[in-house]
Amino acid sequence: MDWLAIISRWTHVGTAIVLVGGTFFLRFVLTPVAAQFPDTDQVQLKSCVMAAWKKFIHAGIVLFLVSGFYNYLIVAAPLHKGDKLYHPLIGMKILLALGMFVIASALVGKSKVCEGMRKHATFWQSAILVIAAVVVGISGFAKVALKPTTPAVSVAPESNAR
Ligand code: HEM
Repeated sequence: MDWLAIISRWTHVGTAIVLVGGTFFLRFVLTPVAAQFPDTDQVQLKSCVMAAWKKFIHAGIVLFLVSGFYNYLIVAAPLHKGDKLYHPLIGMKILLALGMFVIASALVGKSKVCEGMRKHATFWQSAILVIAAVVVGISGFAKVALKPTTPAVSVAPESNAR
């Protein structure tokens, strides 16, 4: 049993649940409810929420990168050697994921350059959710539809071998 692969997969999918779920909550629950309050309260609430959410975004990006590249380079790539669709699809997924990380970091950050994005946070949160839907779709397709081209190496001892 490859425990590291199981832990890595658990970490990867768990991180997706927390970060995508949290972004969904911000976009469709917190933002519309906050809009019913006076402007000054909204500004204060948003700055407190973003300061707390920032820690989850930063930790989540690290967990995604570590578990994702472990899943790809150590677990999946050796099983899909020479597969003409698997690798371009995962490459596209990685680019989309990096784009999402940039948007998510800009929304929780303080840099002046990204002030415009923070002013239109609802639009950019929706963009993250659309990209996340494509990323999860690609991952599921790669897992279910693209069967391994190379067999997994067996580590069981051949007790009857002479
Ligand atoms: C650079 C970052 C990332 C890398 C390198 C990466 C890589 C991978 C790899 C190689 C797999 C296994 C695919 C297979 O079994 O053939 C996977 C699965 C998965 N990834 Fe990622 N990933 C990244 C980011 C993300 C992000 C941002 C999300 C969600 C928004 C995500 C969601 C998932 C899900 C849900 C699965 C499981 C699919 C399934 O088993 O049905 N990944 N990832």
